[in-house]
Amino acid sequence: MHNLVILGATGSIGTSTLSLLELSPFPYKIFALSARSNLTKLKEQAERYKVPYLIVEREESAHWLRKNLSYKAEILIGDEGLKEIAEHPQAEVFVVGISGLKALIPTYYALLNGKRVALANKECLIAAGSLLKEIAQLQGGEIIPVDSEHSALFQLLRCERRDYIKKLILTASGGPFFHWDIKDFDKITPELALKHPTWHMGSKITIDSATLMNKGFEVIEAKELFDFPPSAIEVLIHPQSIIHGLIEMSDGSLIAHLSKPDMRIPIAYALSYPQRWELSFTSLDLIQLKGLTFYEVDYKKYPALKLAYEVAEKGAPYPLILEAADEIVVSAFLERKISFLQIPQLLEKTLNEFKFSIVPKGNLEDYLELYQEVVIFTKKLIDQA
Ligand SMILES: NC(=O)c1ccc[n+]([C@@H]2O[C@H](COP(=O)([O-])OP(=O)(O)OC[C@H]3O[C@@H](n4cnc5c(N)ncnc54)[C@H](OP(=O)(O)O)[C@@H]3O)[C@@H](O)[C@H]2O)c1
Repeated sequence: MHNLVILGATGSIGTSTLSLLELSPFPYKIFALSARSNLTKLKEQAERYKVPYLIVEREESAHWLRKNLSYKAEILIGDEGLKEIAEHPQAEVFVVGISGLKALIPTYYALLNGKRVALANKECLIAAGSLLKEIAQLQGGEIIPVDSEHSALFQLLRCERRDYIKKLILTASGGPFFHWDIKDFDKITPELALKHPTWHMGSKITIDSATLMNKGFEVIEAKELFDFPPSAIEVLIHPQSIIHGLIEMSDGSLIAHLSKPDMRIPIAYALSYPQRWELSFTSLDLIQLKGLTFYEVDYKKYPALKLAYEVAEKGAPYPLILEAADEIVVSAFLERKISFLQIPQLLEKTLNEFKFSIVPKGNLEDYLELYQEVVIFTKKLIDQA
């Protein structure tokens, strides 16, 4: 049995990971769980599996857990706690399901300590992909993608010789507004944007899916993970979310990866790789499919995707700037401080107007410092908007 750490245990990725524990045999024991605000759910999860380590954001949360937990667990706090668990010699494999750049510290230290990281969080790779890859390579750590499209590409790339592959294709459901006319985009509310047609996910990634910023982030993520230039990474709208990724070969052949839109499948693959587990409940019935359709992206409707391609071409530190600004702008939209149409506008404004003094390279603190500077800058832009 290996020891598994689930960071962001109370979220959509964390809950899907925990549901895999019902599989038999599941060769992992839960060693640590982390959460931010959902303490009741964390307590339930911890008690069910008698998890020895729990990490929470604040001292008050730790105090609440100490008072209410029915058994004695070690409770760690904040970034220091996340770092401590990432460095713990008994913590072997990590599922990183914390959203946003908050996940960078534990991901960095887990890789620095040579661990396997099943990485759902994409923000870390976007902002600090070269740093994470470099330390993983130096220290023997592994990054196995959990994002369904990247899990698909990771599997497809194992099938073919690299020099035969011309293009990577990522599919996008198109989000809830794919059939909407752009004229109606001013009527989009947080409630409407939070209704994703095929996936049930946390609020940040769901809003990013509605603007296609998420797909833009995935282009950068694919560039970082697989070392292809952005011009060789294409996005295709595929509303059914059955094909998750394709590779196009030099002879024009396409190889596709298909599965049900169920995050338990890529999570299980990242945990079992290079083996596969029996997941019979997820098998895809091709006869039941009503058809698979594909459409081009309309960049007028989805300018955020264009911004992502631009920053992917420019390279560091622009992807970090875009990612940090997006965290703030999405929160502002959810808090109704700005409209849906203002999301890409404010992202573009941040990219154009933010002046950076350093290009982070090789030093974690520099990435975190730049992130904070962008956060402050974007908040000011929102106040003026
Ligand atoms: N959901 C998916 O299907 C999916 C697919 C592909 C990639 N991803 C990526 O996976 C990551 C997680 O997505 P999700 O949908 O699972 O998000 P989510 O449902 O919002 O869950 C986020 C988790 O992280 C915790 N968290 C959030 N902010 C935190 C902070 N500042 N400090 C410590 N913990 C924090 C939350 O704790 P509390 O709930 O206790 O506050 C929760 O456990 C994202 O980066 C997303 O892009 C998700």
